[in-house]
Amino acid sequence: MADINAVAEQRSQDPHIYRADPPPAPKLRKAWQLLEQYSHVPASEIEGHVRDVRDRAWAVFPYNCIGRWRFLDLYITTLPQYPELLRRLTHENETLLDVGCCFGQALRQLSHDGAPQQSLVGSDLRKEFIDLGYELFRDRDTFKGRFVAGNMLDPDDASVKGLDGTVDMIHAASFFHLFGWDDQVKVGQRMVRFFKGEARAMIVGRQAGTHEAGGFAREEGKRYIHSQQSMRRLWDEIGNRTGTKWVVEAELNDSLNDIDDLHNDGREGEGEGKETGEDKEREGRGEGGGRAAERGEHEERKRGMTIRFCIRKVIG
Ligand SMILES: C[S@@+](CC[C@H](N)C(=O)[O-])C[C@H]1O[C@@H](n2cnc3c(N)ncnc32)[C@H](O)[C@@H]1O
Repeated sequence: MADINAVAEQRSQDPHIYRADPPPAPKLRKAWQLLEQYSHVPASEIEGHVRDVRDRAWAVFPYNCIGRWRFLDLYITTLPQYPELLRRLTHENETLLDVGCCFGQALRQLSHDGAPQQSLVGSDLRKEFIDLGYELFRDRDTFKGRFVAGNMLDPDDASVKGLDGTVDMIHAASFFHLFGWDDQVKVGQRMVRFFKGEARAMIVGRQAGTHEAGGFAREEGKRYIHSQQSMRRLWDEIGNRTGTKWVVEAELNDSLNDIDDLHNDGREGEGEGKETGEDKEREGRGEGGGRAAERGEHEERKRGMTIRFCIRKVIG
């Protein structure tokens, strides 16, 4: 792994990955409301406040969602399952885990919309992001939800293991697409263990998507980008390995409409899986992946599609 400062410096030069300035305030209405009403940041201080936290987070690890300010896109509220999440958290005493939660912005939004904080759990590899989340939302002394720093890919990580058997619902945004197929299977198996035995288990989220699934080489390793079909195949495999069965609903969207590219330059969407000059090598896996990989260009990916998903456990 290259030195993080060098990677951040290099990525700062790419406007597909990094923008110095936040998107125009009207595009961030929900985030601004959350910061004003939940975090009590005075309106005149919000921009300076988010710039400060964003810049420090970029130095921790230069994810596109940080570079492109996408953490301020509270897209979770637009999921068709959002009312169900709120109802189950608020009235049915259920628990939600946000995997790869970064600052925990989705959890703060759920809380602001009425979910009991005690029902909210976030986990992330990097404790620095969790700490910066407390700073962003100014709630270190008041937030009653829980955060766990740990590695989803390490089966022996004691912090992560501590969540086994404790949750009913999982939110995973811009998360699976960080990994190759085999690691996504591991992450899925890990998630299955998080659920309570009796849970009406459900995983919702959004990530980079494509019509022709396949693996893409990145500086951090190969990443598998899903179509609807490949996502079903993934959960069939996770189901086979865990003795469970899952129904996958997935919807591909042209992210320029779906998540509203915050900078509205018509060039990329979800971003984390976006191709860069280093993405010349491609790897095909499974149906369609090989063809897409060999073609060398991947138009859907360049257009920045996203896939939203809701994966439910078949009970009984
Ligand atoms: C692209 S960010 C997405 C953050 C957030 N879910 C969002 O939608 O804004 C991916 C997050 O996953 C975390 N992450 C990466 N690898 C991880 C791992 N192996 N275990 C746990 N978290 C991980 C990163 O630290 C980062 O916060």
